[in-house]
Amino acid sequence: MTTQRTELVQRKDAAAIAAHARELVLERARVSIAERGAFRIALAGGSTPRALYALLAQSQAEFARWHVYFGDERAVPPEHADSNYRMAREAWLGAGQVPPAQVHRMQGELGAGSAAAQYERELVSSFGSREVPRFDLVLLGMGADGHTASLFPGTTALSEARLFVASTWVEKLSTNRITLTLRTLNAARHALFLVAGADKAPALREVLHARADGPRLPAALVRPWEGELTWLVDSAAASGLSGS
Ligand code: 6PG
Repeated sequence: MTTQRTELVQRKDAAAIAAHARELVLERARVSIAERGAFRIALAGGSTPRALYALLAQSQAEFARWHVYFGDERAVPPEHADSNYRMAREAWLGAGQVPPAQVHRMQGELGAGSAAAQYERELVSSFGSREVPRFDLVLLGMGADGHTASLFPGTTALSEARLFVASTWVEKLSTNRITLTLRTLNAARHALFLVAGADKAPALREVLHARADGPRLPAALVRPWEGELTWLVDSAAASGLSGS
């Protein structure tokens, strides 16, 4: 099984990325609902996707058929400033288009280990299967160190091959995180990276120009087995790529 299609899309800045991403998300939703009656999307945290979420709050879509999940979360309560859920709620989900029962929050307040176990059960229950959950779309960011979701270089979650969700100690942040595992990310029908800023340029170059036999940054390990992979990057992040 190999990634069906990998696409690199460059836009001039973060706002242009958000606008393009909005069209990609809405189109994936239309196709998913037409084919399967629902659209299951996992959200990225951090700051880059906030503009996209704000655009979705102003969009028309069949949101009653959307199920919103999270790719990762910090071990904090939902009202904490570091919470990815709080960012998405403030930027988008608070608008109420998606039925609250269809917003599947990682319960970071339980602590990373318990939250990961609880989310594993939530995925099994909401997907109605013990098979690896196949998200229609997974939104992802990338850190300057090449991490994605909360899969950081050198962390145990990277090698988790059985669980759908893992808790992981992140030494560089001195904190525990909850994250979807590569097994889950690579089961997605479509993975969409949103990457903006010059600080991401070295990691993006390493990820996109990685040698087949060389070590790989976590973001380079996201290659949906039977899905599509889109890198949506701004000019600053793409400045290190050949041909940029
Ligand atoms: C998190 C995110 C993380 C994020 C990257 C990029 O919880 O922090 O899931 O993987 O996507 O760190 O963050 P920015 O978009 O803020 O650069």
